[in-house]
Amino acid sequence: MSGEVIKFPEGFYWGAATSAHQVEGGNRNDWSEWELESSKLKVKSAKLREWPDYIFKNYPNPLQEENYISGRACDHYNRFREDFDIAKRLGHNAHRFSIEWSRVEPEEGKFDEAAIEHYRQVIAALRERGMEPFVTLWHYTLPQWFARRGGWLHPRAVTDFSRYAKRVTAEYGREVRFWITKNEPETFVRHAYLVGDRPPQQRNIFTTYRVLRRLLAAHRAAYDALKSKDPTAQVGFAETKVYFEPYRRLPHHMLTMKAVKWWRNNPLYRDFAARSDFIGLEYYFHSRIRLNPFTSRWAIQDNEDREVSDLGWEIYPQGLYHVLDELRSYRKPIYIVENGVADAADNQRASFIRRHVEAVARALHEGIDVRGYFYWSLLDNFEWQLGFWPRFGLVEVDYTTLERKIRPSAWEYKKIIEANAVERG
Ligand code: BGC
Repeated sequence: MSGEVIKFPEGFYWGAATSAHQVEGGNRNDWSEWELESSKLKVKSAKLREWPDYIFKNYPNPLQEENYISGRACDHYNRFREDFDIAKRLGHNAHRFSIEWSRVEPEEGKFDEAAIEHYRQVIAALRERGMEPFVTLWHYTLPQWFARRGGWLHPRAVTDFSRYAKRVTAEYGREVRFWITKNEPETFVRHAYLVGDRPPQQRNIFTTYRVLRRLLAAHRAAYDALKSKDPTAQVGFAETKVYFEPYRRLPHHMLTMKAVKWWRNNPLYRDFAARSDFIGLEYYFHSRIRLNPFTSRWAIQDNEDREVSDLGWEIYPQGLYHVLDELRSYRKPIYIVENGVADAADNQRASFIRRHVEAVARALHEGIDVRGYFYWSLLDNFEWQLGFWPRFGLVEVDYTTLERKIRPSAWEYKKIIEANAVERG
């Protein structure tokens, strides 16, 4: 019923998420190296596309090399206190961020005390502002020594990751309750080893699967390492789930959809979840899948004429309810650790958040154990291979002056948080 107010449980976590490489600036890892090598080529291929005008209103844009180089990003490494002040003003009671492995362990086996101290201060700054930290250990980027050695395929990759995990828990275990070992393992392997548009830019289906298995092993090892240091820690993983439907309810589209869904929602999902105290869900969009046997892309998404974001992703809030429903059988607490929209004009964001939160309310009402919601992202940031132009932030960042400007939708989100309730629209 429209106008009905739906309450959230006491202690529900509300906040936003970020990841180190996307906001910190000044990183030296496999990505920063790759960005310098690939930016010229990206500008060239961007020129071949048609872009809507609004993209050029902001700096940088897809036709500029700076767009593809993370550089100083949002300078969040130096401005985290100021950024957390904003999150606090916006009513957040939790915040998800990631530790940059390449800073903490810049050389194999050698930990950097200053970087360790830095993240201690980040955690303290959140606590001082009454925000619960949700800490991700790995959000795509790798130390250069690890990447040069062959990345996740190296025989010592898993033990090295677990050594890093142990060190981090030994340092911050008492201050942090919620840990996320891995961010989106399937997305990582698909881009880096199958599609080849992210480092190390390989295209091999067997390697893709091998790396996914490695990430599972690394997740398990990190889980065990964290739990052995602190049995009360809550340790999970984060994976995205797309809500899939067939383009039409015809057998060939349905079969194609099933195959795409099996892979895209991570074929090892159950194994990841089995060694986790909670599930970190990321939800962005909906896809209608269609078999297309006459072209090289046999399965295509058909989202024409729908409500889409600046990235062309279909906005489909009820999909969040459906993916939550699919997770019911795991019988684990669920935290929505990412859900957001690229919307430079801020026309869609407030309604995007409200309608997705409504979908969460519906899931809660039906007994699904959801305990938190983190909007992606607190700040505009470096959107990986696409660069800076997609604008996901509750807070706009001017990349020339680094000035922050709170978007109107962020205040709308605050109203939901303060009421700990959402009104059905
Ligand atoms: C990732 C983020 C990314 C966001 C939007 C998620 O897949 O975890 O790093 O910025 O989606 O694409």
